[in-house]
Amino acid sequence: MINQEDFFKKVISHAKEYGYIFQSSEIYDGLSAVYDYGQNGVELKKNIREYWWKAMVQMNENIVGIDAAIFMHPTTWKASGHVDAFNDPLIDNKDSKKRYRADVLVEDYVAKIEAKIEKEVAKAEKRFGEAFDKEQFITTNARVVEYKNQADAILKRLAKSLENEDLADVKALIEELEIACPESGSKNWTDVKQFNLMFGTKLGATADTAMDLYLRPETAQGIFVNFLNVQKTGRMKIPFGIAQTGKAFRNEIVARQFIFRMREFEQMEMQFFIKPGTQKEWYEHWKEARLKWHLSLGMGSENYRFHDHEKLAHYADAACDIEFRFPFGFKELEGIHSRTDFDLGNHEKYSGKKLQYFDPEENKSYVPYVLETSIGLDRMFLAVFSNSLQEETLEGGDTRTVLRLPFVLAPTKVAVLPLLKKDGLPEIAREIIDELKFDFSVSYDEKDAVGRRYRRQDAAGTPFCITVDHQTKEDQTVTLRHRDTMEQVRIPISELRSVISKEVDMRNWLQKIK
Ligand code: GAP
Repeated sequence: MINQEDFFKKVISHAKEYGYIFQSSEIYDGLSAVYDYGQNGVELKKNIREYWWKAMVQMNENIVGIDAAIFMHPTTWKASGHVDAFNDPLIDNKDSKKRYRADVLVEDYVAKIEAKIEKEVAKAEKRFGEAFDKEQFITTNARVVEYKNQADAILKRLAKSLENEDLADVKALIEELEIACPESGSKNWTDVKQFNLMFGTKLGATADTAMDLYLRPETAQGIFVNFLNVQKTGRMKIPFGIAQTGKAFRNEIVARQFIFRMREFEQMEMQFFIKPGTQKEWYEHWKEARLKWHLSLGMGSENYRFHDHEKLAHYADAACDIEFRFPFGFKELEGIHSRTDFDLGNHEKYSGKKLQYFDPEENKSYVPYVLETSIGLDRMFLAVFSNSLQEETLEGGDTRTVLRLPFVLAPTKVAVLPLLKKDGLPEIAREIIDELKFDFSVSYDEKDAVGRRYRRQDAAGTPFCITVDHQTKEDQTVTLRHRDTMEQVRIPISELRSVISKEVDMRNWLQKIK
């Protein structure tokens, strides 16, 4: 059995080998935490974005989309709180000279305690078999309870010190837990300092007239500043949402774990504008709706969990993450935040413009409250890609690498393979492609033995292979091979479109989240 670290290395190398993800500017040795998407990656990313967009905008009458600019007036970031509060607590190790996020060092320590709990659970599960009651075991087993209390106490104290800006206590916690530099093993730490994550740039030609700008660290603010434009021109009635996908930039210090934490990344965010006082019910609504979206992709309900925030961001009155089981453990995939009227209220204050909604039912104007769902597209990509990559042992002992991407997201839906490069078979294959390409992304492959071509398509994640052989010339049938079951059925060319549609069409997948 391959360990998690080696598996994660395999994920990264597979992503490169099959044209999904490359290191940015690789010929110059790359740029840390910046990545490029290759020919397959761009398609998978586009499909995830489309799946999110359709579920949000197309399926909900009261949600519309926008595409705001990355550059925004600099006061935006003063009003949003990012200039003053978008900081990470950093700590340097004096011996290795390595810089870390102090909170991440503590969280990694807690993750090790959680791993111990999981180990105890797995052991007990093995021992008790069918009769095992996980919930009971976790709440009654003395060792597990002790681990759990320990982890909770550490996280509580971290949250409290961060909340109170007590950076000296964060350092004290690191020292008390005897956390060592992962690189050097040294426990010789500097004080903890705050570091703003926004990238600055300038707009304008000359130094004295140039205006200081920031690259947006979240797409949400583009929605807030356009709240009234959309509400008025779209005649939107509360509750309604505005959705947006686009790039965001953060000068992450702990930039690691491949595309999990990047400096340039893409977000898919939706701000839902509601009547003040209704935020609790909408918070529950969107938690459920977003989990349903994830589960519709069939990546295993055991791989998701909610995590309530102990330390709330400067704008929130309630917040949680949907965490996913990545190859390095459960981590945040998506955030659901009850943002109150913090953003609109502050934009009113800083701009001097009213950002209020006249509620005809209440016959009064108010600043709406906001419920936000925010997911990283790249992080979703990593969740899908790592969950899909599997090494299988087949009957007879052979192994195959298969990328079991949800069919709806796969970059190429069908590969058409002539059995031989002669006898008119390539020509028939091309005719099939010319017909199917109006509905699906299709590729052609004639190189190597057909078995090797199947393996290549399995590893690239292609759900179907169509093989054209001599019988095709006789009776207009082909074999259709299914990636996951490897089953092959013989069907008429005329039925290909409808058979494949049933499995890959977004419509059929979206129906699961109605
Ligand atoms: N508008 C709210 C907001 O930006 P966030 O929790 O900071 O909230 C939301 O970010 C999501 O964006 C995260 O759940 C994650 O999926 C993604 N994300 C944040 N920082 C990221 C980074 N450096 N690299 C990749 N994805 C990131």
